[in-house]
Formats: sequence, C-alpha cells, structure tokens
Amino acid sequence: MRILVLGGDGYLGWPTAMHLSAHGHDVAVADNYLRRQLCREEQIDFLFEVPDLNQRAALWQSVSGYQIVVYIGDLCQWEFVAEVFADFKPQAIVHYAEQPAAPYSMLNRQAATLTLQNNLTVTANVIFGAKEFCSDAHIVKLGTMGEYGTPNIDIEEGWLDVEHNGRKHTFLYPRQASSLYHTTKIMDTDLLWFYVRTWGLRVTDLMQGPVYGLFTDESEKDQRLLPFFNYDEIFGTVLNRFVVQAVAGYPLTVYGKGGQTRGYLNIKDTLNCVRLAVDKPAETGELRIFNQFSETFSVNDLAQKVAKAGKKLDLKIKIEHIENPRMEAETHYYNPKHTGLLDLGLTPHYLSEEDLLEMLEFVSQYKGRINTDQIYRNVKWN
Ligand SMILES: NC(=O)c1ccc[n+]([C@@H]2O[C@H](COP(=O)([O-])OP(=O)(O)OC[C@H]3O[C@@H](n4cnc5c(N)ncnc54)[C@H](O)[C@@H]3O)[C@@H](O)[C@H]2O)c1
Repeated sequence: MRILVLGGDGYLGWPTAMHLSAHGHDVAVADNYLRRQLCREEQIDFLFEVPDLNQRAALWQSVSGYQIVVYIGDLCQWEFVAEVFADFKPQAIVHYAEQPAAPYSMLNRQAATLTLQNNLTVTANVIFGAKEFCSDAHIVKLGTMGEYGTPNIDIEEGWLDVEHNGRKHTFLYPRQASSLYHTTKIMDTDLLWFYVRTWGLRVTDLMQGPVYGLFTDESEKDQRLLPFFNYDEIFGTVLNRFVVQAVAGYPLTVYGKGGQTRGYLNIKDTLNCVRLAVDKPAETGELRIFNQFSETFSVNDLAQKVAKAGKKLDLKIKIEHIENPRMEAETHYYNPKHTGLLDLGLTPHYLSEEDLLEMLEFVSQYKGRINTDQIYRNVKWN
C-alpha cells in the first residue's frame, strides 16, 4: 500500500514510517520541522542529536534497502498538500502533523493561536486533499485519550448510546478536554465526523494515551535512526521525563497528589496499532474510533516504578510532590474501554522493570547533555 505519513520527522512519525516500510509498504513522509523549530524557540534541546529527514531516509535505505520518499513543507499550505497528494497518490494517510504538547498550547496567546491554526488547518487540508486526489484513501488520524477528560462514568470507545425520553440515539462520546491542545483534537474529530457524514470519507481516529520509550525493531539497525527524545516539561511525556530526571539526580516532579490516571503505551505499541489500523481499514463513510493504550497508571505509580528500577542502578532518586501547574483532577474515577485494537490483533507490550532499566541505562550515556534548567519551567494553566 502507498502510505503517506504526515509529521514524519516526529517522535512517533519517523519510527512509524520505518515500521510501515519494513512491513513492505511504500512510504512517504511530509514534515516542515515545526517541532524542531518550536524547541529551538523555547531553548529546549533533544537528549541527543537527530539527523534531518533526508539524512534519516538515506540511512534507512542503506540499512534496509527500502526507500522512504521525503517531502519538506508546511501542510497548512494548500499548494504543498496538493503537490504531495497528487504526486504520491496515497492509499492511506497517517496524520500525525500537529502541535502535540498541552503545556505549549497553554504558554501564551501566540502559542495558543499557533496550536489552533496549525492543527485545524492541517486536518482540514488533509480532508480536502483526500477528497480531491484520493477519495478512497483511508485517513488514520491521531487523536488523544485527553479528548474524553476524566468523566465520572466509564469511557466507551468513541461512541455512547443515549436513551432520552424513551428514544435512543448513538452520539460521539462526550468530550471535555483539560488543555487547549486537547481541545483542538476534539475539534479535529468533529471536522472528520462532519466530512465522513457529508462526503463518505473513511477515517480511523485513534484516541492515544501518553507514549513512552524510544526503542523499536527498526532503530536497532543503527542508533542514528532513533526518534528525538524530549525530557523538558513542555514537550516531554511524563515517563520519558521521569527517566531523565532520575539519571540527572533531579527529583521526580509529581504534580499535586499524583493520582492523575491515564492510559499509557510503549512506542512499539503505537507502531503496531497504526499498522493494524492501516492494514484493516475503516469502511467508506465510517468514522471508526479506537482507544489506543495498553494499561493505566497514576503519576504516583510511574514515579514509584522509576524509583524502584533506579535503585537497582544505585541512582539516588527522590519523589517530590509539587504544586500542580495544571487544572486537572488529582484523584478521579478512570475506566476507559480499549478492546478495539486488541480485536484487530494487537498484542500489548506492558511496562516492565527491564524496559525501565534499558531506558535508564541508555539515558545515562547522555547524562552530560542533560540541562536541568530545562526540566521544569512551571507553565501554569491559569
Ligand atoms: N507522543 C504522545 O505521547 C502522543 C499521545 C497522544 C497523541 N499524540 C498525537 O500523535 C501525533 C504525533 O505526536 P508526536 O509526539 O510524534 O509529536 P511530534 O511533534 O514529534 O510530531 C509531529 C510532527 O508533525 C510536524 N508538523 C506539525 N505541524 C506541521 C505542519 N503544519 N506541516 C508539516 N509538518 C508539521 C512536526 O514538525 C512534527 O515533526 C500528534 O498528533 C499528537 O497529538 C501523541
């Protein structure tokens, strides 16, 4: 299948592109390096240097023999989208190309409007691109479990049957996000659902939880194929940050009570979920929604697991509860369903102590590059 990965330079995009390529698909990636640019502007460094997309594609070809086509440009620009879609004629589109950080979206007005404009415009352009150039292509869109928030009832997989005054109807599950970034993801879902109904697009919306880790089968061939790795408060996801904090001797920063519970997954599971969704597409005129995570943890659980693993490596790890900069429930009910991807054939990778030891040992090689000033900046929600 010809698969276009939008946001192919990203933490998830590059490993996904290699994974799909290794599984025999023809893969192209598109990216404008927005993530690298925002990190530079905020004076945030990756844990280690990462080659640009053309260099990575050449490296991948030299170790695997497979070609990944690279398009560099801004997917907010229709001319660029039209050129890529007309040239590559994708049969599946994996849409990762958004500003993905909740704290970034809460930094200030400029960051908020950039997030809104970028995320919604790319999604609209993908919809129009599919309609104009490849109307039967399957759009696989990355949403987030954060769209649902933390309601005091079970979270269904995308849809909710409602009975009201004796009549029944199925609606999108109610969404109530706790950051502007997550709110743009809700708007994306609404846009996609509108055009699925109106134009009969075929779409899978993957409500993904926070991802951790960096090792995948494909990057084993050459360390320079690893994805970039953020350990700062703005772009780093919580478990990745805790691992770096543990190595740096910086207290693990648990926000508030630490009972915030979410569904997590290893980066290997992200790749498998996306590949399964691509291989078994949604029907024409269907918005298919899967909750994409492997297991739930509270922030306290994660801090304790990292502290326990770190002890084995003689790291002195302190867990510190700090005032929560975010507006979120710190203790709450959380019971999200996640059977759809298991039914498609996912075998989940559960977090083990070996995973944590492998990450801690890997990060230790870069201890000298960790800039502790970047770890916590206290981006407040209000
Ligand atoms: N990483 C996670 O834990 C996680 C969890 C849930 C959902 N997601 C979603 O998955 C997707 C990928 O996340 P990620 O962590 O890899 O983020 P990322 O920032 O590493 O990747 C996104 C990529 O898209 C590119 N991009 C953004 N806007 C673009 C534009 N206008 N034109 C061209 N390229 C553009 C960026 O440069 C970046 O390389 C995002 O949509 C994110 O919201 C991620």
